[in-house]
Amino acid sequence: MRILLGVSSGIAIYKAVDLVSRLRKKGYELKIVMTPNATKLLSPVVFSSVGNCPVFIDPFEVKDGWIPHTELSRWADVLVIAPATADTIAKIATGRADNLLTLVALAFNRASKVIVPTMNDRMYGNPITQRNLITLKDNGWLVLEPEEGFLACGDWGKGRYPDNEVIEEAIHMVTWEKPLKGYKILVTAGPTREHLDPVRFISNVSSGKMGYALAKVAKRLGGHVCLISGPVSLSPPPFLDEFVKVISAEEMKREVLKRYENMDVIVMNAAVADYRPSTYSKSKIKKDMESFSLSLVRNPDILKELGKKKDNKVLVGFSAETENFEENAWEKLKEKNLDVVVVNDVRRTAGSDTAEVVILTKEGDKKRVGPYDKEVIAFHVFDTVVNILRRSHGEDR
Ligand code: C5P
Repeated sequence: MRILLGVSSGIAIYKAVDLVSRLRKKGYELKIVMTPNATKLLSPVVFSSVGNCPVFIDPFEVKDGWIPHTELSRWADVLVIAPATADTIAKIATGRADNLLTLVALAFNRASKVIVPTMNDRMYGNPITQRNLITLKDNGWLVLEPEEGFLACGDWGKGRYPDNEVIEEAIHMVTWEKPLKGYKILVTAGPTREHLDPVRFISNVSSGKMGYALAKVAKRLGGHVCLISGPVSLSPPPFLDEFVKVISAEEMKREVLKRYENMDVIVMNAAVADYRPSTYSKSKIKKDMESFSLSLVRNPDILKELGKKKDNKVLVGFSAETENFEENAWEKLKEKNLDVVVVNDVRRTAGSDTAEVVILTKEGDKKRVGPYDKEVIAFHVFDTVVNILRRSHGEDR
């Protein structure tokens, strides 16, 4: 993918250097355009060296008929402007083109464009800037909301440059095809915790990485996505439509059932604890006994309950086993009335960034995928889901 990064003269410009470094490491083809004012804050040499790429500033540097603004806007698959000052935003919103960056923005006619406003909060809140941003949205720009926090001017407010991870995710959002558009997707992730007292619980090793990757990818593919997550140490992916935190299996069941009717696809990736302590002590249990036995009761099997309702939903389960992987998974698929089961070796995948899985479907299809990054695995899972949706709803939805 060819990314053209436009840099204007926000104080957050130093954060764009890290963005360039991240994009380079991911292997994207990169070119950069700076406004003349941006070069007063940071030398183009920094961007060029960190990005190992050319930096363009002057629209009149036409060489052998190579006209910078038309060539660059034709070259790029995606245009990202970060940081974008109020002035650059105003110029683009009104079609002005008085430097190479605004010229490129005017000449770029694809839908894949992201802009990252960063400025003082009063400038951001000014109705003129807000109106300009609405114009950009109406013209197909994905406008990222600045974060609230401490600003360079010493004020506290909305205007900060967001995390570069959010900008990277925005690039995926504007460049991926949207086969899940119009579909509501529910993803569960992480472990559940079953408390025996306020400070102790039983749980499992699930990190939530696979579930978070599934939610991210479902969003990139255009779905309306709700992620229900057990306790994990990950930040929720950006752009989700709904994010719900739960602790126990009972809570997870309640939150899933509340939304079930409204969903088209349910991906139960959570490692729901099968048992919970039979009693809960409101105060911390004292250690005055020599030995302690814990009595457990079965938790509800959420997915099995969904399988009994089924309706026309697509149900996807995960099968984390340590042996007889496929045999157990085919059985689970039947027993829980599922459309898809994703099988993995939990000893190798829990907590890891990568996974190797086998995807089984009700129709008897079997696809081995990986070892890949969990985001790539998530893509293959949704590829299978999209095929099922296409078969049941036709191509035209
Ligand atoms: O039966 P097993 O626990 O191996 O099945 C795993 C699948 O069932 C996963 O998709 C998991 O999210 C779901 N599950 C559930 N409720 C439980 C246990 C597992 O929904 N109590």
